[in-house]
Amino acid sequence: MTKAQIGLIGLGTMGSNLALNIAEKGHAVAVYNRTASKTGAFFENAADLRERIVPCATLAEFVAQIRPPRPVVLMVQAGKAVDEQIAALREHLEAGDMIIDAGNANFRDTIRRFGELEGSGLTFVGMGVSGGEEGARHGPSIMVGGAQEAWRQIEPILTDIAARFQGEPCAAWLGEGGAGHFVKTIHNGIEYADMQMIAEIYGLLRDGAGLSAGEMATIFQRWNSGPLESYLVEITAEVLRASDGATGGPLVDAILDRAGQKGTGRWAAVEAQLMGIPATTIETAVAARSLSAERDLRLKAQGAYADALPTGRLVADEAFIRDLEHALLAAKLAAYAQGFAVMEEASTEFRWDLPLGTVARIWRAGCIIRSQFLSEIAAAYDQAREPAHLLLMPAFVDTMTMASPALRRVVARGVEAGLPVPALAAALTWFDAFRQGRGTANLIQGQRDFFGAHGFERVDAQGDHHGAWSK
Ligand code: ATR
Repeated sequence: MTKAQIGLIGLGTMGSNLALNIAEKGHAVAVYNRTASKTGAFFENAADLRERIVPCATLAEFVAQIRPPRPVVLMVQAGKAVDEQIAALREHLEAGDMIIDAGNANFRDTIRRFGELEGSGLTFVGMGVSGGEEGARHGPSIMVGGAQEAWRQIEPILTDIAARFQGEPCAAWLGEGGAGHFVKTIHNGIEYADMQMIAEIYGLLRDGAGLSAGEMATIFQRWNSGPLESYLVEITAEVLRASDGATGGPLVDAILDRAGQKGTGRWAAVEAQLMGIPATTIETAVAARSLSAERDLRLKAQGAYADALPTGRLVADEAFIRDLEHALLAAKLAAYAQGFAVMEEASTEFRWDLPLGTVARIWRAGCIIRSQFLSEIAAAYDQAREPAHLLLMPAFVDTMTMASPALRRVVARGVEAGLPVPALAAALTWFDAFRQGRGTANLIQGQRDFFGAHGFERVDAQGDHHGAWSK
């Protein structure tokens, strides 16, 4: 049997599907998993793709089965497992071989691993892969960080296995070091915001207007043929439409309102904070998931406040439903603008020179936030002559001018009714502050100078000034 062109370690859900994808695209792949029984079961289930899969029971055998220079994809649990697996692999690999961490690594760990492997003769690549199980199997969005030369070596296989948007592969080299995993982290942060905003709209319709899951499914389905067309809106309609085998009612009504999180959304919020870039929609979405997890506390609070503070009703007439659609569009645009601003800052701070138009382009298919709207973002970046904020680009100034009044009405209705709209409100209030040329931080500077003599700048003179405060 000819040797494999690539190796893959870690046959969990993502790893198994990625290995099948690689084999299906015509590349022979050697596979290895810590627990050998999983390797056997995987191979048994690979059907006619078996002819391009080489199952290996030991690392020595695995390495021997790959043609040098060997690209080895790691799809093991993020964190300690990656370090352990790299240490074990180093015993077997040779100079020129490449380790590609395709898991959900924190980009700071990725940067550390680049440092640790420097001078080892091995090439390291940090690769963000988005699209879940389905994406891994049939075409994910692939965000590559590392040396450009390393990308050139693996580009043919990666473009073969990536998703395609109108024929263009959704895989790209984004920059050195942790660039790929960083962009994946921001992708997930935006995904959190997107999902939270959709859930808030659902809450207004369910708790304010009393719509059934089926009625809401129809609304989301309709929105999926307009400017909100996206994977998340599409699956929202499907989730709302699904019925429960046990009760016969809508499945969504039987699902507990406690959301999980693996941490990547939180990393996005933390990194935004560390860089001093406002990403309020992402931060709020992370906080909302955390509050969702505190179900017992919420139930007690409902008991404590329900009688005194009842929630109000909303009327889901045509005008309100149109407002919800535009509100979601405006809020979503604010979330993307925040996420892209974080990437812009990181690009400077880490000297990645991130191609933001390319980032938008490779998110158009394969990944969870894929949407029509990303084509507009890509086009806007392509047309911008210098780095620019998304909400200053003419196409998006028009969108916000058209859609933000609806966001304001929707947030106001939600707030008045006592229904939670934290991410929609975060988008709106950030947008209002963003477009305020004369803000209110002059008062904060006055306070800081009053209690700590921190000084302030004046509107009419250069230099550092102090007030003659009477204390
Ligand atoms: P999934 O894709 O299913 O979400 P994951 O939880 O991120 O997967 O990772 C699971 C994979 O990491 C498995 O292949 C697991 O190997 P086992 O089948 O032996 O559990 C692998 N893994 C976890 N810890 C590991 C470690 N310390 N060393 C090597 N592989 C490890």
